[in-house]
Amino acid sequence: MTNKITTLKITMGLPHTGLVDLLKRAYSAEKAASFAYQGHAGSVKNAEEKKAIKQIERDEWNHRREVFAIMAAYDVLPSKYYELRFHVIGKIISASCYVIGWFMPFYFAGRLESGNVCEYFRMKQYFNSLGIHEHDKILYEMGMKEKEHEVYFLEKIKANKLLPFFEKYFGWGNRESFNNIDLDKKYPVEKSDSYCKK
Ligand SMILES: [Fe+2]
Ligand SMILES: [Fe+2]
Repeated sequence: MTNKITTLKITMGLPHTGLVDLLKRAYSAEKAASFAYQGHAGSVKNAEEKKAIKQIERDEWNHRREVFAIMAAYDVLPSKYYELRFHVIGKIISASCYVIGWFMPFYFAGRLESGNVCEYFRMKQYFNSLGIHEHDKILYEMGMKEKEHEVYFLEKIKANKLLPFFEKYFGWGNRESFNNIDLDKKYPVEKSDSYCKK
């Protein structure tokens, strides 16, 4: 039976272009994030911040591995275009962390993480629309991990006097988020369908 399912998966690929693109994008964007956090961790002076950001970098490499495992199960290959594009983006952000001061790397990391949360919940919804539920747990966990990252960065800057200004112009901060997840009142995986519904 398992062999039959595996054969079916490989021969059918993933009949969902939006999902395939989202997987490829996330796989490459995780690399960009990892590179960016290398620069971010390197540029902060505070030892605790450095340690926390290095852990976040490890989380992102881990996500990249998990996304690859899902892609491989359906014979989906990484996109050469995204790999190159996000490689360059990640390296540029990484280098910029050394010159744009303390606040902005924390702000834009939090803003980016806020958007990444729903990518994993959207993937789950797409898989579920194909009747596939075997990735629910890992996608839920990755989405929640991105939320933890968002909260970490927001905590660091929530009292900063620059935040109201950035929130007004970039649409993320104390009052605005790109997802509807509250870590203090989490729904379990099987009841998480209301997350990130547009
Ligand atoms: Fe990630
Ligand atoms: Fe993250």
